[in-house]
Amino acid sequence: MRRWVVAIDGPAGAGKSTVARLLADRLGYVYLDSGAMYRCVALLVLRRGMPPEEATCLAQQAQITFDPVGVGEPQRVTLSGEDVTAAIRAPEVSQMASKVAAVPGVRSALVQLQRALGAEGGVVMEGRDIGTVVFPEAELKVFLTASSEERARRRHAELEARGETMDYQTVLAEQRERDERDQTREASPLVAASDALAVLTDGRTIDEIVTELAGKVST
Ligand code: DC
Repeated sequence: MRRWVVAIDGPAGAGKSTVARLLADRLGYVYLDSGAMYRCVALLVLRRGMPPEEATCLAQQAQITFDPVGVGEPQRVTLSGEDVTAAIRAPEVSQMASKVAAVPGVRSALVQLQRALGAEGGVVMEGRDIGTVVFPEAELKVFLTASSEERARRRHAELEARGETMDYQTVLAEQRERDERDQTREASPLVAASDALAVLTDGRTIDEIVTELAGKVST
């Protein structure tokens, strides 16, 4: 029997990564973080000092690998052989990622890569357009969200845990800016698929949510 594609979309800080990773482990599926691909292209743009509008070629040529792509293993992201797992999480990369993600040519190059990685099923892929554009036929589509204050609080704690200093108000303001860009861009804006299961994560434990979603997957 074909193993499912599970699409998890939603705004930044909704808890997608944690939920998607744990759900993949629970199901014995592979976890794929599509946002990391946009972040890789953003890193290249920043390093080369290029305008994001010209990033299509970079996206087409970027050698992005998730390594190892194994069940339950922490995922390392490599870009042309360089380990960029930590570098792509820097705040300036987050901002640039939402700019390159608005470029249609960048999106089509990365969507192609995402489709290839998920073609066999047995994946939990997180992003913004997985259920609407990348895998509109995904067997389970989830739209995960949380209030903007809750999301900023989580992001702030995450940055602090990594030793980065940014005050909560700045995190909240940057997040709003990014949400606005992700939701209003012309190319594949962040919207819930009409057949997605909407899950609000405020006040719920991760385990509760993972258990709920795992119960919906039948293979
Ligand atoms: O999930 P993230 O914060 O790592 O994503 C980084 C940026 O990439 C974010 O601004 C939205 C964008 N993105 C997207 O447009 N489509 C996706 N499938 C995944 C991420």
